[in-house]
This record gives sequence, structure tokens and C-alpha cells, in this order.
Amino acid sequence: MAEERHDEAVEALLHEDRSFAPSDTFVAQANVGPDVYAAAAADPEAWWAEQARALEWDTPFTSVLEWEAPFARWFADGTLNASVNCLDRHVAAGRGDKVALHWVGEPEGDRLDITYAELLERTCRAANALEALGVEAGDRVAIYMPMIPEAVVAMLACARIGAPHSVIFGGFSAEALADRITDADARVVITADGGFRRGAASGLKVEVDAALELCPAVTTSLVVRRTGQEVEWVEGRDVWWHDVVDAQAPIHEAKAFPAEHPLYIMYTSGTTAKPKGIFHTTGGYLTHTSTTHRMVFDIKPESDVCWTSADIGWVTGHSYIVYGPLANGVTQVMYEGTPDAGGKDRWWRIIDEYKVTILYTAPTAIRTFMKWGAELPAGHDLSSLRLLGSVGEPINPEAWMWYRKHIGGDRCPIVDTWWQTETGGIMITPLPGVTATKPGAAMVPFPGISAEVVDNDGAPVPDGHGGLLVITRPWPGMLRGIWGDPERYAETYWSKFDGLYFAGDGAKKDDDGDLWLLGRVDDVMNVSGHRLSTAEVEHAIVGHPAVAEAAVVGASDDTTGQAIVAFVTLTSSSELHGEDDTEIIASIRAHVADAISPIAKPRQVILTPDLPKTRSGKIMRRLLRDVAENRDLGDVTTLTDPTVVKMIDGLMAAHAEDD
Ligand code: WTA
Repeated sequence: MAEERHDEAVEALLHEDRSFAPSDTFVAQANVGPDVYAAAAADPEAWWAEQARALEWDTPFTSVLEWEAPFARWFADGTLNASVNCLDRHVAAGRGDKVALHWVGEPEGDRLDITYAELLERTCRAANALEALGVEAGDRVAIYMPMIPEAVVAMLACARIGAPHSVIFGGFSAEALADRITDADARVVITADGGFRRGAASGLKVEVDAALELCPAVTTSLVVRRTGQEVEWVEGRDVWWHDVVDAQAPIHEAKAFPAEHPLYIMYTSGTTAKPKGIFHTTGGYLTHTSTTHRMVFDIKPESDVCWTSADIGWVTGHSYIVYGPLANGVTQVMYEGTPDAGGKDRWWRIIDEYKVTILYTAPTAIRTFMKWGAELPAGHDLSSLRLLGSVGEPINPEAWMWYRKHIGGDRCPIVDTWWQTETGGIMITPLPGVTATKPGAAMVPFPGISAEVVDNDGAPVPDGHGGLLVITRPWPGMLRGIWGDPERYAETYWSKFDGLYFAGDGAKKDDDGDLWLLGRVDDVMNVSGHRLSTAEVEHAIVGHPAVAEAAVVGASDDTTGQAIVAFVTLTSSSELHGEDDTEIIASIRAHVADAISPIAKPRQVILTPDLPKTRSGKIMRRLLRDVAENRDLGDVTTLTDPTVVKMIDGLMAAHAEDD
């Protein structure tokens, strides 16, 4: 299990006395005081209800939580509209001229400031267009777009008319896209001709075209012109955004929907080959994301400029670019491209230019910046920053300290926020101005959230010990299920321990009882903050005609957190072909990129005549992970053929230079 594997590194830290007390500046001006924890703990439901009342409800709720484990309903008799909460109410309150998005395209000079009034107008036009195309409340709409303002508009327009969106990360292949469109049974796809990444225009519509050959039920694809590249056109199915959206009226009367109306589906990887459609509903999700955004980032809507560097295709983009920040009416930076486009100091230039106050990013990015060198951020004025956040994977203490010193000027608190697609919003985090911070620790559950670290029997471990992370009470932003598969939902999250949500992560409590997240304990990998399942990648690899069997593991990697290593036997396994191997390996990697996404391409493919298995025929993944990480192999007596291991080990060394 993962927590065993981290023992040495973490053990030292757990007992190390290195903690940063909240600074006086933060204490003096923080949104919340230390009593927030006690207030929430005294009556969590009442506390969440109070937070929910900060939203605009058409029908105020009287019921807070209905809990028939594992199915929760929050604020169920209330009605509201998510898009109205993110847009109309700010405009109605006289803040229409405030900038909602400072959008920065990847090509230099390509930028646009969009106010709340403008974002509302664009959203109304898009909502009218979707209705004109026949989309009704409850219909699913797939969104496959680059990081452009229309992506936010498309999401909010869907929310406005009660059509759950399913945003699919633009890096996914046509095949992966088709699987998700089919599972959600979406009839309309919103996309763009392409986007800009690494200085070049990539194609998106071309992927949609290929996907739609597998999805005959899709009637319409609505296409934004972003790059101007040539695209194929299917008459009667494809329509340009600038033709159908721009022609619509800028006003759209929004209807309120019940709090439990589905807001979106987000596909994520689990332990099987089939991605899970995690779905979230409206009232609880909006309450959770807006409350956590306001408190964890200590938001001052009048003066803050927030930048969440995630892609809109992942949950972090949903919760902390779209719903949380817009519900709170803040100004944000939204950047289309990669961190090195136009120079490796691109981010620092953006922060300086827009006077960004809050930066929320992933450890992978921080480690990349460390490699690029501290001179780059040092060459820019980053003094506008006042708070830094981290999300997506465990942050190693070195990266945390570098982030604090070189980006935060030793003055900005760092919030290491643990959460998941399933949790909807932040669950474990320090509160700036209230909680101390420690490099590498996510610290404590957010107010109103109850988490524990338990042993294999579900009993809480004492301080100073490790185990499995569980959430012990329902929370407003929790997933309401897996789209179309309630049994899988109950089985995946609620069957390991009776009445407890099992997150799939290992964790430790240090001597002070503070929480350290240690990574997944299941077969989910975390590569550069992207979540991928070993089974999904294995499934893709065995789809290659030359492959008989595959075992995939996530091995530690200094930059990406984990990296994918695949052990593969070929159909004619007796012959490992020497020089030809390079070609086969390249073709297996390309095959995975086509079947899932370039992000799922194994860092290494190791060809082997056999895979190590237990007597019952189970592939010994832990051992393969040890091999992949060059660790001591320990006891291998349960292998059907112990020599296989030595052989794999030898191969591993031989292929160590491969990429
Ligand atoms: C991992 C991303 C340690 C964890 C929001 C979790 C983290 C998975 C942290 C969810 C963190 C996320 N410290 N690990 N601060 N944040 N994780 O669904 O393993 O893409 O289960 O959601 O990322 O990934 P997901």
C-alpha cells in the first residue's frame, strides 16, 4: 500500500518541528477567525445552511440534509439557478463593470478583458442558442474546448438552462471523447476548430469529427472559430458559434431549478478501465465551492485578482475558475497556453502585469519552475501576490519551501488543499490567518468537514500513525453518484467501511494530529496532477495488435510526481527482437496516445517474456512498482517464476535511458 512506501521520507518530517504560524497581517484581516472551527463543529448542518444562504435562492430551502446512506440530498426543497448566482446577481448589485476575466491567449498580445455584464450577455446569447438548437433542461451537452472565454460561457449557458454539461479535457483523443459522449448520451457537442499550445495551433474539431463517427446520436456540433485553421464541415450537423450564438438576443430569462438538479458530469479515472461519470448537483455544490473559495483563499472581492492555473477540463477548473470564483464575484486571470510559451517566465510576466494576488497551481508546475531556476521569477515584480495554493498531488516539502520563498517572497501563506473530483470542492486545507502551515501537510479538515485516518478495520489511528483517509459525514459538494450506475457508486466509495466515504488515499496524522496526504493506495496514478487508472492504460496497451498482456504501474518521478511504466509481453513473446523493440515500443506509446491521450503515454515500456504473478494468477503490481523504482525486491517466493523478476530487473536497467 502506498502509505508503507512513503514511510522513510515522511517519518522524518512527521516529527520535524517546522511549522509556520499565521502572520500578523493575515490574522488582522482574515475573513474568518479561529472560532469558525468550533462554530461549524457544534452543528455542521446549520453551519453549512448559513453558508448556503449567502447564495441567491428563488425558493429558500427549509430542509438542509436528507441522508439515506450513501445517498445525500442537500437543501432539496430550495430552487436556484447557478448561472444567475455567478452572473446576474453581481450585475444587479451594480458590479456589472467589474472585470470577471482577464483572458490571456497563448499568442503574445492576444488578450481580452470581459466584465461581469459582458459575460452575462454572452451567456444569455449562448443559452438562447442552445434552446434554439433544441436543448432542454436535463439534456446533457458535451464541451471539448481550449481555454478560451467561450468555454466558460458554454458551461454557464448550460447551467442556465438546466442542461448538465460534461466538459472533456481537450487533450483527450477522439476515442476517449467518444466513450464519454456515449456514456453521457450527449446530443450536442460544443467545440472549437482548435486551440494554441506550445506555439502551434492544435486541432479539436478534427477529433470531434472522428469521435462523432462513433456517436450517431449526436445531432449538433457547435464550433467556435479560435485558430482559423481549415476544418471539415458536415452540413446539417455542424454550426458556427458566430453564426448561431452571436445572432441571439443578449437577454435570457433564467428559470430556477431544484437544488438537486444535476449541474454537470465530469469523467474521471477509477480503478477499472472504464472512466466514471461523477455527477454533481446545484445547490450543495455551489455552496461548497463558493464557501471554500471565500475562506481558503481569504477572498476580498473588491481587490483580489485570482489565478487558478488549471484547465477547464478538470474539476479544479470547474470549481475554482468557474463556479466558486464567479459565485463570489471576483476578478480572475484565465490563461490559454503552456507555462513556457513565449518564454519560461510567461507566468511571472502575467502575474506582474495583472497584479495577481492569489495563485492556485499544482506541485508539478512548481517543480518544473524549480528546474527552470529562481532567476526567472526573480526578474519580475511578484509583490502583488498575497496567498499561494497547491492542489492535485502531494507537495514535497522542498517544492513547498521553494514556492514560499521564490514565488511568495516568504510572506504569502501557502494553502495545500486536498480534494477530489468526487468531493466537488476543497476538503482538507489550512485556513490562512487561522491555521499554522507545515511544508508538505494539508493540515486539517475544512470547517464543517469531518475526516479521519483509519486502519484496515476502519478504526481511527492514533497521532503519529498512518492509514487510510475517510470522510465521516456527508458534505454539500459531494458527488451524488456515478452517472447511470448507482451501484458502482455505493460499491466504489461506501463499501470498504460501513458509513464512511473511502477516498482511495493514504494519509498520516503527525504528533500534533495534523494531516499529511500520501497519495493513492489503489490503482489510480497521478501523473502531473492528471488522474489515470492503471487498468485504463493497460486496456489501451492490449488493444495494440502486437501485445499479449500488459501491467502498468505508477513509479515515482521527480517532476511529474508519478510516471507511467508499462511491462508488456508480446504476442510472439518468445522473440524479443533486439533492435526492432524500439519501433514496437514507439508504436505502443503512440497507440496509447490515440486510445486515451498523450498524457497517458507510458514514460517507459519494458518488453518482457512474462509478467510476475502470484500463484492465483494476479499480477504483482507492487513488485513491478519496486522494479520500476529500482527498489530492493524483497521476498519473491510467491512468484510462479522468480527468475522472471531478475530478468525484468535486468531489462529495466537496460531500458533506463528510454523515453
Ligand atoms: C490527489 C483534483 C495530496 C489525491 C482536485 C486525490 C492530492 C486525487 C492533493 C484527486 C493534495 C489532490 N495533496 N494529494 N493537496 N490534491 N490530490 O479527482 O490522490 O483529479 O485522490 O481532483 O489527487 O484527483 P482529482
